[in-house]
Amino acid sequence: MKQRLVFAVNGEKKEVFNIHPSTTLLEFLRTETPYKGAKLGCGEGGCGACVVLLSKYNPVNGDVEDFTVNSCLTLLCSLDGCSITTSEGLGNCRDGYHSVHQRIAGFHASQCGFCTPGMSISLFSALINADKTSGSKPPNGFSKLTVSEAERAIAGNLCRCTGYRPIIDTCKSFCRDVDMEDLGFNSFSKKGEPLDVNKLPPYNQHKVCTFPEFLKPETKLTYEFSERNLNLVDKNGMDELRDRTWASPSSMRELLNVLASEANENGAQVKIVAGNTSSGIYKRPETCCRFIDIRHIPELLVIRRDDLGIEIGACVTISKAIKALDEEVSLEAASSLIFEKIANHMNIVASKFIRNTATLGGNLIIAQRDEFPSDIATILLGAGSSVTIQTPRETLSLTLEEFLETPPCDSQTLLISIQIPSWNQFHSPSKTNGRNGSEREKRLMFETYRAAPYPLGGALAYLNAAFMAEVSVDESNGDLVLGSLRLAFGAYGTRHAMRAKKVEEFLEGKSLTPEILLEAIQILKMFIFPKEGIRKSGYRSSLAVGFLFDFLSPLVKGLAEPKQRLKLEEHDLFVSSKIQNKSQNGYTNAVKGDSFDIKHHNGVTNCNSHKEATTNGGSISVHGQSAQSYLSKKPTSFFRSMQMVEVHGDYGPVGLPTKKVATEIQASGEAIYVDDIPSPKDCLYGAFVYSQKPFASVKHIEFDSLMESPGVVSFVSVKDIPKGGENIGSESIFGKETLFADDLTEYAGQPIGVLIAETQKHAKRAADQVKVYYDTSGLRQPILSVEEAVAQSSFFEVPEFFCPKQVGDFSKALAEADHKILSSKVEIGSQYYFYMETQTALAIPDEDNCITVYSSTQVPETTQVVVAKCLGVPEHNVRVITRRVGGGFGGKAFRSIPVAVACALAAHKLRRPVRMYLDRQTDMIMTGGRHPIKVTYTVGFNSDGKITALHFDALIDAGISPDTSPIMPKTIVNALKKYNWGSLSFDFKVCKTNFPSKSAMRAPGDAQGSFIAETIIEHVASSLSMDANSIREKNLHTFSSLNLFYGDSVENAASYTLPLIMDKLVSSSCLNQRIQTIQQFNSMNRWKKREISLLPIIYEVSPRPTPGRVSILNDGSIVVEVGGVEIGQGLWTKVTQMTAFTLGQLWKKGNEEILEKIRVVQSDTISLVQGGYTAGSTTSESSCAAVGLACNILVERLAPIKANLLGKMQLVSWDALVRQAHMQAVNLSANAYWTPDMSSSSYLNFGAAASEVEIDLLTGATTILRTDITYDCGRSLNPAVDLGQIEGAFVQGIGFFTLEEHVVNSEGMVVSDGTWTYKIPNIDTIPKQFNVEFFSSGHHKKRVLSSKASGEPPLLLAVSVHCAMRGAIKEARKELQSYKTSSNEQIGEDCSAIFRMDTPATMDLVKRLCGLENVERYLQSLVHHH
Ligand SMILES: Cc1cc2nc3c(=O)[nH]c(=O)nc-3n(C[C@H](O)[C@H](O)[C@H](O)COP(=O)(O)OP(=O)(O)OC[C@H]3O[C@@H](n4cnc5c(N)ncnc54)[C@H](O)[C@@H]3O)c2cc1C
Ligand code: FES
Ligand code: FES
Repeated sequence: MKQRLVFAVNGEKKEVFNIHPSTTLLEFLRTETPYKGAKLGCGEGGCGACVVLLSKYNPVNGDVEDFTVNSCLTLLCSLDGCSITTSEGLGNCRDGYHSVHQRIAGFHASQCGFCTPGMSISLFSALINADKTSGSKPPNGFSKLTVSEAERAIAGNLCRCTGYRPIIDTCKSFCRDVDMEDLGFNSFSKKGEPLDVNKLPPYNQHKVCTFPEFLKPETKLTYEFSERNLNLVDKNGMDELRDRTWASPSSMRELLNVLASEANENGAQVKIVAGNTSSGIYKRPETCCRFIDIRHIPELLVIRRDDLGIEIGACVTISKAIKALDEEVSLEAASSLIFEKIANHMNIVASKFIRNTATLGGNLIIAQRDEFPSDIATILLGAGSSVTIQTPRETLSLTLEEFLETPPCDSQTLLISIQIPSWNQFHSPSKTNGRNGSEREKRLMFETYRAAPYPLGGALAYLNAAFMAEVSVDESNGDLVLGSLRLAFGAYGTRHAMRAKKVEEFLEGKSLTPEILLEAIQILKMFIFPKEGIRKSGYRSSLAVGFLFDFLSPLVKGLAEPKQRLKLEEHDLFVSSKIQNKSQNGYTNAVKGDSFDIKHHNGVTNCNSHKEATTNGGSISVHGQSAQSYLSKKPTSFFRSMQMVEVHGDYGPVGLPTKKVATEIQASGEAIYVDDIPSPKDCLYGAFVYSQKPFASVKHIEFDSLMESPGVVSFVSVKDIPKGGENIGSESIFGKETLFADDLTEYAGQPIGVLIAETQKHAKRAADQVKVYYDTSGLRQPILSVEEAVAQSSFFEVPEFFCPKQVGDFSKALAEADHKILSSKVEIGSQYYFYMETQTALAIPDEDNCITVYSSTQVPETTQVVVAKCLGVPEHNVRVITRRVGGGFGGKAFRSIPVAVACALAAHKLRRPVRMYLDRQTDMIMTGGRHPIKVTYTVGFNSDGKITALHFDALIDAGISPDTSPIMPKTIVNALKKYNWGSLSFDFKVCKTNFPSKSAMRAPGDAQGSFIAETIIEHVASSLSMDANSIREKNLHTFSSLNLFYGDSVENAASYTLPLIMDKLVSSSCLNQRIQTIQQFNSMNRWKKREISLLPIIYEVSPRPTPGRVSILNDGSIVVEVGGVEIGQGLWTKVTQMTAFTLGQLWKKGNEEILEKIRVVQSDTISLVQGGYTAGSTTSESSCAAVGLACNILVERLAPIKANLLGKMQLVSWDALVRQAHMQAVNLSANAYWTPDMSSSSYLNFGAAASEVEIDLLTGATTILRTDITYDCGRSLNPAVDLGQIEGAFVQGIGFFTLEEHVVNSEGMVVSDGTWTYKIPNIDTIPKQFNVEFFSSGHHKKRVLSSKASGEPPLLLAVSVHCAMRGAIKEARKELQSYKTSSNEQIGEDCSAIFRMDTPATMDLVKRLCGLENVERYLQSLVHHH
C-alpha cells in the first residue's frame, strides 16, 4: 500500500501523506503552497482562471508531455509522479518574468488581472507544444506556433475586462507567420515606428523546465508500482469517514478485484474516476469513500486501428482521441473524412483544458446514466459506433444505440472501449442494383452539427446532430437516390442521443424533391420533442429541421438557389474561411442549380475531390452551423483589428500609453487579491445560508445537529448582532438593506445566516445542509413582476434632485405629428456582473473592539460605515483595506458590502479571523445585477423622419432595496436624449419587488436608455420604410437642441464633437460602399443575411470630490494614496503618471526618472478618509486631480530648497533634493481633497460605432463581422488604458444586448447560476474585425488635463450590434414574406418589417424572428410553385 503522493509544483518537490481523496489540485495549491496564480473563478471548468500546466514523464521514451488542465476539477491524488507549473513557475518578480508575462503587459492585455495567470498558462502551453512539432525552425524571435493556433490558444479562458483583442494580439506576437503590422497597440514600438520582433521581450529567454529531474526516478517507481493504492486519510481527521482510499489499479484484473472487494464492504460507496471533469457538471456533495482511478489500465487506453475501423479505450482523453482520429485522416483511409469530421466536432466540445483530461468513456457514461447532453454520444451514434462494456458478470459488445437504451449503468459497470467503424465498403465505388435493374454507384455523406451560444466550444449545444447517408445515382434517369441513413440527434432535452428512425425509413430509397423533404421534416418534428420544462423547445425543434435541411438540400431536385453568388473572401476573411471549410464537405459544386451531378458530389469518401472542392470554394451560400463549417485543417486568422490612437506628450508622462501598473505581477499570478492574502492563524471560513422562498416567514432554522459535524464551528445570524448594533448589510444615500432575514425572508437568495467552519469546503457543505422551515400562510403573494408592483403600488421614491426634466409640450407635438406610433412595448433584460473574482472579504478582529476588513469592494468608505453600524462601534474602530479588485463593473459597490459585514460580524462573535469567498452559484443568486426594464412608448413623427414627440413609461425592477435604483430615471433619460425628440416626456416607476436588489452595473440606466432610443428610431424607420441610419441623421442634435436637452452639461459649440465623429466614422468604416455590398450579399444569399448599423452615443458623467495623498520617503521613493480603488480600470497607472507629471515641474525632463519611484498603494479607510466610491467612470480623473493638488503642495515646498541647492551646485538630483528637505524638516507628505468646480460638475462624452453582422437563418447564430468605433477621449490621460476601457466595455455591451440571459424561476430564484447557464462573451463572440479610433477634441479647460471618461460610455455603442441584427432580421423576414403559398395563413408566422426585439437578442430570439418554420415555408413555396 503506497502511503504518499509525490509530485512537483513549479520545480519543487511535494510529498503528501494525508489528504482527502476528493481534494482538488486548486484547493491544494491555494491552501498548501505559496502559489496563488491559479484562481477560483467558477469551480466548474467553465472559465479557465484555474488553468495550470500538467507535465508527465514517460520513462520508456523519455518524453515529457505538457498540457493544460483546470485545477478546480483535477483531483490531487491523480497527480502522483506529475509536475505542475503555475504562472509563477514561468517567471516572477524575483527571477525575472517570462516573455509571455512581459508581452501581456506590453500589449496592454490585462486589466483587473484575475484571468491573466490562466491566460498566460494557456498561451505558454500552446507555445511549448507547437515547438515540439516537427515543422521547420521558425525565424529568430518567433515560435513554431501559427497565427490560427495562437488565436485558439486561449479559447475557453474567459476575461470580463479586456474584450480579448489585446490578448489575441499577445498570442499572435509569438507566431512564425504573424504579420507584425497586424499586431495591435503596444508599448514595444514607439509612435509611428513599425513593430520589430527584436523589440519584443525575447521568446524563450528563460527556459522553463516543466518536469524536474528529481521527479523522474519517482515516476519510474510509479510506473512500475503495481499495487498503486494510496491509503490517504482525511486531513486532520476532521471528516466523518477516516478511511477513504484512492486506488489506481494497473490492470483489468486488479480493477475488477478492487471493485469486487469494495462492493463487498458494507455500505462503502465507490467512485470511479477518469478525468473527473463531470464534477464540474454534477456538483454533488462528496459522499463516496473509495476512489478508483481507472486511467492506468492498458485496456482502457488502447487505440487500435484495423480495416474495420478504430477502437478507442474508454479512458482515452478527448484530446488524444482527436489526435488519433487526425492521424487516421493523414493515413488517407477511405473513412478518413468521417474521422476528420468527428475529430473536428470533438475539437469544439468543451475547451482545450477540459478535453485534455475528459475521457470518451466518462462522457458516454454521463450521457447514458445522467442524461448529459453529450456531443460525443450523438456524433458517435451518427457514425454507427459500438461499445464494449464490462459488468460484474460478463463482457458485452453493444451498438452505441443499445448501450444508450439500456437502463442507467450502475457503479459496477465499466465502459471498456468504443469502436468507430471505417465504412470502408464505400472506398471503391460499390455497385448495387437499382429498382429498375440499373447499376448504381454508392457514395457516403457524413456531417455533424451543433448550435450553441459559443460557436467554437465551451457551451453546451441546444441541439446537436450527426447524419450519414448513402447516396447513389439512378443511371436510368440521373436522379440521386438515398440509400440507408443514420440521422442522430441529441442534447435537445431528450434522455440521450437518438436516431430519427421514422425519418430514416421514410427517406430510404427515395429521390429527394421539395415535397419529400417537407414530408420528412414533418415526420422529424413529431420525433424531436424536448422533454417537459426544457427551455427553448420550439427553437430546438427548428434547429433539427434546419440541420436536416442543410444536410439534404444539396440532393433535392428542383431546389431553387440564388443565381449568382458573391465572392465572400473579398468581404470578410472569417466568413470566407467558413465557406471554404464548408466546401470541404464536398458540396461546393453540388449546389449549382437544379441538377445534381454525383461526380461533383463525392461526399466525404473521396479525398481527392475533397481537395479539389476546397480550391473551388468561396462562392456558395452557406447555411446551418455545421461543426465543420468553422473548422479547417489550415484555418486562417479569424481576427483583425486596428487602433488609431492619439498620443500627446504635452503633460508627459500623462498622455503617454505607459504600461499598466503591476501587469507583470498580475500575469505571473503574484498580484494579491483578497483571497490570496494568507489566512491568519485560527482563521475560519463562512458560507451563506440563503432563502429559497421569495416571501415567507422563517419558522425554524435547523442547524444544531450540524454543529456536531467535524469542522463546523458556528451559525451566525441576526441573533448575533451585538447590542447597539444594527441588522444592516448595505446602505446608499437612498436607504438601507438588512444583512440577514429576521422573521421574514423577502427574496429568494436573501442571506439568513452564515455557516462558519474550519475550511471553506466544510462551511459550504454544512451551509447546504442547514434546513430552513418556511411558512407562507397569511402572507401576501410575493411581488415577482413589475406589473404586480404597480398593482400593489410597491415603489421606491425618486428624490426631486434625481428626477429628469421633461422637454417641450408632448401632447401638442404629438397631436401635430404626421404619423404616430402608440403604446408600443419593449423589454430589457437584466445582466449579471460576472466579475472573475466573486465577492470576498477577510475580517480580522483587533484589540479594543477594533476590526480590520480586507474587502474586494469599490466602496471601502461605505463598507466601513456599514460594518461600524452593524457592530455598533465607532467608525474609527473599523479599518477597510482594498488593494485590488478582480473585476467590479458596479457589482463590487453596494453589493459587496453584505459579505464584508457578515465576515466582520462572525469575526466579532467568534473572536477569530473569518473569511468568505462566495462560490459562483451563491454569488449569482445573491448579488443581483443590472435593472430589467419594461418600456411602453408613444412617438410622433413627420413623413421625412423627423421625430417631434416622444413619451415613454418605464417600469424599472429594482428588487428588494433601493440601493442606487432611484438614479435610474435620470441616467436612462441622459442617454436617451442623444437624439432631438422635439418634445420629451416620461413616467418612471422604480418598482420594489421580491427579487435580490438590483444595483448599478457599468453604464447603469444609460445602457438601457440608449437601447430604448434606438428601438424607437428603428421603429420609426420601419414605419416609414426608411433606412434607420437616415432617421438617426435626421434627429441628431444641433448645438442649440443639445443645449435644450442637456443644459449645463454642455460646454461650447466646439466641444460638441458628435457630428464630426459620425462623419469620420462614415468614411473610416466605408459605410456607403459596405451598404451596397451588403445589399448584394443579401440578394444572393437565402439563409444568411447581413446588415450594418452606425449610431451615436452621448453620455453624461459627473466627477465627484475625492482625496489624494503623496508622501516622499527618505530614499526619494514616493507613496501615493487615493480614494479610488484599482478595479482594473487603470486608476493606479493614471495616478502614477499624474504624480510624475506634477512633481516633474521641478525638473524639465526628469519625469521619467520620477515615474519609476512611484508606488500607489491600497486604499485604507483609516489612512485616507472620505475615499468615496469608485464608480461613474470619473474616479481616475478625479483621483488624478487630487493627486495633482497634493503634488503641487510638495512642489511649492521643494522648489525653494532646490533653488537654494542650485546656488551651491550645478545639478540637483531628486535624491539630493529629498535628503536636503529631510534635513530641513520639511513636511514631505501632502494631502488634498479635490472638488469639481461647480461649473464643470458634469460633462458630455461622445462616440459612435458601426457594426456589421451576419445572421444565420437556420440557427439564429449571429457573427459580428466588423465593428468600427470612434470615441472622443478628450486628451486621453493614457491612451493604452482608455483603449482597453473602450474595447472591454463594448464587448461587455455585446454580452448585455445579445448573449447574457438572466433567468429566474417562478419562486424568483436566479437559475442562470453558473458558467453552464450564463454565457458572457468569449473569444468567439467578439467582432472578427475590431477597429477603434480616438477622436481628440483638444483642450477642455474644465476637464482634468483635458481628459474625458472612457470606462462606461463605450458599452452603449454595442447597441449597434443589436440594431444591425434587427436590420438583418428584417431582410430575413422579407425573404420569408416572399415564400408565398396559399397556406401561408396556416403557418401563421409574422413577416412584418415592424417587430419587437427585446434584449438580449439570443440565438433563439433571432431564429424566432426569422421564422421558426422558415425552412418549411420555403419548401412549401417550392411545392406550391411546382
Ligand atoms: C466545462 C465543461 C464543458 C463541457 N462541454 C461539453 C460539451 O459541449 N459537449 C460534451 O459532449 N461534453 C461536454 N463536457 C463533458 C465532458 O466531455 C465530460 O465531462 C467528460 O467527457 C467526462 O470525462 P471524465 O473522464 O472527466 O469523466 P469523469 O468525470 O471522471 O467520470 C464521469 C462519470 O463516469 C464514470 N466513469 C468514467 N469513466 C468510466 C468508465 N470507463 N466506465 C464506467 N464509468 C466511468 C465516473 O464514475 C463518473 O461517474 C463538458 C464538461 C465540462 C466540465
Ligand atoms: S475555476 Fe476552474 S475553470 Fe473556472
Ligand atoms: S483582466 Fe481578464 S477578467 Fe479582468
